[in-house]
Amino acid sequence: MANVVVIGAQWGDEGKGKITDLLSRSADVVVRYQGGVNAGHTIVVEDKVLKLHLIPSGILYPDTICLIGSGTVVDPKVMLEEISMLKENNIDISGLKLASTAHVTMPYHRLIDMAMEERRGAKKIGTTGRGIGPTYADKAQRSGIRVIDLLDETKLRESIDIPLKENNALLKKIYGRETLDKELIIKEYLGFGKLLEPHVVDCTRIIHQASRRKNNILFEGAQGTLLDLDHGTYPFVTSSNPVSGGACIGAGVGPTLIDRVIGVAKAYTTRVGEGPFPTELSGKINDQLCDKGGEYGTTTGRRRRCGWFDGVIGKYAVEVNGLDCLAITKLDVLDELEEIKVCTSYELNGKKIDYFPSSSEDFSKCKPIFETLPGWKSSTANCKNLDDLPEAAMSYLRFLAELMEVPIAIVSLGANREQTIVVEDPIHGPKRALLGS
Ligand code: GDP
Ligand code: IMO
Ligand code: MG
Repeated sequence: MANVVVIGAQWGDEGKGKITDLLSRSADVVVRYQGGVNAGHTIVVEDKVLKLHLIPSGILYPDTICLIGSGTVVDPKVMLEEISMLKENNIDISGLKLASTAHVTMPYHRLIDMAMEERRGAKKIGTTGRGIGPTYADKAQRSGIRVIDLLDETKLRESIDIPLKENNALLKKIYGRETLDKELIIKEYLGFGKLLEPHVVDCTRIIHQASRRKNNILFEGAQGTLLDLDHGTYPFVTSSNPVSGGACIGAGVGPTLIDRVIGVAKAYTTRVGEGPFPTELSGKINDQLCDKGGEYGTTTGRRRRCGWFDGVIGKYAVEVNGLDCLAITKLDVLDELEEIKVCTSYELNGKKIDYFPSSSEDFSKCKPIFETLPGWKSSTANCKNLDDLPEAAMSYLRFLAELMEVPIAIVSLGANREQTIVVEDPIHGPKRALLGS
């Protein structure tokens, strides 16, 4: 038995969906532990492209239990749309379970998220507008609505009373918006509750029962390390903890239950939304990466900002997540480049540093120091083994592994399941006998 956490090692969209789907083959239980419908995880199987926002990427395996844990925030409307989409694709959702204690994104959360962004003007965060920040804020100030509240009219009426009054006052008095009608919300959300009820469970108990059965549990992170509320590029972050430690809190398990932590990183870097990004590119190479990599947000359709691989944040991600190994995705996107740069350190106030500075002011002043590596100028999309990769591509991978001092277990060369080289089974294989160890 091995329990693993899969996390994003950059600013999100690293290809966690693809890697989770791949690893779910060996998992009995897959758990989403934080975030909400701000996430967009894409899985490509043959000619089918599935975009999941909330439902764990293990759902394609019929015998897998897929849990949406307590630490997530749930937009019931989007979850029901996702369920319909999966059913239309003949995917068995009988293993889908939702924590009764997860908090619910209400209509006022979305409105306030968007109104706050508008009010911030040039200082906006560039949120997905899905109400994530306000849902977590209400949770933290103990006026949130939980999934369990949607199953009982008396309870919902009681729990919505204060938050609706407060959020309506915010909407009207601070943001000059229309207020929302209590009865309409209650009717709509009780309806959602009825439809979701068959999936609602005590999530933590199910995880511990699975653990006692010696099941393999995979914890699927959303967003990425640098978007972490505590450890990311605050304030340009999300409102949850995408780092591996978030799995313990969001799923209700102790750190001792986790055997391995796998970080997913692109062979370059992208970021969507505002905030500092030292290796950001502009011009032709940016367009090339964006076009070849299809770098448009899964959730909002926004064009992602592209940059070279940043080894400084990479090393930071290794530390804050305790990474055992890496899955490097989208190596194929670099196929046509003459040369490829990797940031190995920063220049800050005239000094060279090789760590991620905790002050966001300092981070926004960091200038990347690059090493340049030769490109391979040939297609890697159909390579099945490391031996099939061009020598320059192997050197690039070795360079990344040595820079981050962590082995690479998986190399992804396309969106399809088959376009993957599994160097070593990252769940059951020896911890450090992998590429670059
Ligand atoms: P996630 O949020 O981390 O799950 O990542 P997204 O699904 O938002 O974005 C990753 C995108 O890259 C998706 O469209 C994937 O289908 C695609 N993708 C994943 N791995 C690869 C790869 O190795 N090569 C290419 N070209 N595309 C990939
Ligand atoms: P996945 O799971 C990339 C970014 C937003 C914004 C910031 C805050 O697909 O990797 P929020 O709506 O969460 O309050 O926005 O976080 N963001 C993501 N960027 N991938 C994601 O998820 C993201 N989820 C949120 O663009 O900068
Ligand atoms: Mg995504």
